[in-house]
Amino acid sequence: MKQTPRHFLRFNDLSADEVHAVLRRAAVLKREQHAGTRHPTLAGKTLGMVFEKSSTRTRVSFEAGIFQLGGTGLFLSPRDTQLGRGEPVEDTARVFSEMIDLVMIRAYDHAMVETFAEYSSIPVINALTDDHHPCQILADIQCFQEHVGAIEGKTVAWVGDGNNMAASWMDAASLLNFNLVLCGPEGYDPAPELLAEHAANVRIERDPAKAVAGAHCVTTDVWASMGQEDEQAKREADFAEYQVTEALLDLADDAVIFLHCLPAHRGEEISETLIDDPRSRVFDEAGNRLHAQKALMEFLVLGEAFPETV
Ligand code: CP
Ligand code: NVA
Repeated sequence: MKQTPRHFLRFNDLSADEVHAVLRRAAVLKREQHAGTRHPTLAGKTLGMVFEKSSTRTRVSFEAGIFQLGGTGLFLSPRDTQLGRGEPVEDTARVFSEMIDLVMIRAYDHAMVETFAEYSSIPVINALTDDHHPCQILADIQCFQEHVGAIEGKTVAWVGDGNNMAASWMDAASLLNFNLVLCGPEGYDPAPELLAEHAANVRIERDPAKAVAGAHCVTTDVWASMGQEDEQAKREADFAEYQVTEALLDLADDAVIFLHCLPAHRGEEISETLIDDPRSRVFDEAGNRLHAQKALMEFLVLGEAFPETV
């Protein structure tokens, strides 16, 4: 068995210092990528990319990212692999560990990714489960730092479903010590144990106007996540009072930014025109998926040879 690998299944699998080191490196990689400077730090390495669910940003950012680092990405759909025919995750993890250098997994069940990591001797990255989406929050924090500044002590307002994105924002709030206000209808709060875990940094506010007051970032996500399509109509009714609009942003801090992990449903969780508002940074945010994950892959694979000091 090789040395025990580091994994990134929840946002707080990294320490605060490690998050800052990864994001400093992400900023360097972003500058180099935009300048056309090559950085083949993972030359010869192979990333396995397991997708049980659809994806645009995550697939493109990981596949382009590993290529830009000098490595290769393998897109692995359960439909075409033995995973989809019932081969145990435990066996698949051990087989991958013999052949490739790291793996990212987008799955329904968070426990599947945990089991994979338990049996893996290569780093495992959670590329979204029903419970967490930590890679997105890395990119979001990078965006916040670029447009607002250090996030420590600031306030982020989450207006929407208490879903996987909200859970990863909660992990980040405690780790990086900022305030997170969660605002959605009753019945859609994150799990009580997660709320208890993060009670010092996270509070619930049912009134959107009060939730965004003083916020430096307002953010949301779809009302029905992947796997919840049959709840769409009920959720549209239940969340009707929680649409994020330009008028709602007017009630936040003067320098507020708006973030959304995308894909967005215009006319549902956001107004038709919000993405085009100058306070919206959603395309910078999407672009940062590339840079933040390249730095994360370097961090997990290179270990002590990671170019940024932790
Ligand atoms: N934000 C995000 O993860 O997008 P995709 O589902 O397109 O990967
Ligand atoms: N909460 C959404 C995020 C998509 C990137 C979902 O899980 O479908």
